[in-house]
Amino acid sequence: MTELVRTREELAKARGALTGTVGVVMTMGALHAGHETLLRAARERADHVLVTIFVNPLQFGPNEDFDRYPRTLADDLEVCRQAGADLVFAPDRDEMYPDGEPRVRVDPGVLAGDLEGLSRPGFFHGVLTVVLKLFQLTRPDLAFFGEKDYQQLTLVRRMARDFDVPVEVVGVPTVREPDGLALSSRNRYLSARERQSALALSAALRAGEEAADRGLDAGAVLAAAHRAFAADAPEVELDYLALTDEELEPGPVAGPARLLVAARVGATRLIDNTAIQLAPRS
Ligand code: PAF
Repeated sequence: MTELVRTREELAKARGALTGTVGVVMTMGALHAGHETLLRAARERADHVLVTIFVNPLQFGPNEDFDRYPRTLADDLEVCRQAGADLVFAPDRDEMYPDGEPRVRVDPGVLAGDLEGLSRPGFFHGVLTVVLKLFQLTRPDLAFFGEKDYQQLTLVRRMARDFDVPVEVVGVPTVREPDGLALSSRNRYLSARERQSALALSAALRAGEEAADRGLDAGAVLAAAHRAFAADAPEVELDYLALTDEELEPGPVAGPARLLVAARVGATRLIDNTAIQLAPRS
């Protein structure tokens, strides 16, 4: 049975009754097959699964989609039920921020100064602030985050380490449509034509992977990704294509790396990334 709780008091009571390990999956709702994979991963590793559903106003910029972000609680609860979640915490804004917007926010540090952080100032302050609050409220042993939001996953991991939050942060691989498009709650904004154009992101990543598999160096991998993006996306506006090391530090020359892309497709901003293994330098 899946129990829905809306207040901190209800959550504290229901969380207190759970014995054994608790895995949390934090979401903003509009659950899709990518979230289902997170829930399954949590189910496999933890005795109990706790899902949070909260569209966090702190992480939306003034011109972003906070108002039109899909809110589908009834459907989301059904997904949680089917996945065998024990508890769903779905607070409203006042419950989460009873004193209004917090005056103190988590500073995400230098790692947030690039990639998403450049295009979305304040985004990671908002994300890490709500994630830290949700860690305190839900007290999980394990927390599951999708690799699709790779910078978010990296920063949450870093925050848990740097702030001694007693939780294991687990990254879960991205789920894709058969044609390569990474699943995202924002895909529902795309028209049929935009959905087709959005394939430029995964095409760029695939081209980068193939170039790395052929033993090409970082510059050539990035160039291959750029070429594939431009070929597939005449009407898509590229924000960034970047190659970093696994911890998002710039400029890997060999070994495990991450290729990341962000682009605007019509009015919708999409991101994606993949692991790359760069050949050792000769
Ligand atoms: O990835 C998301 O859905 C959100 O950024 C999160 C982690 C739930 C925080 O609001």
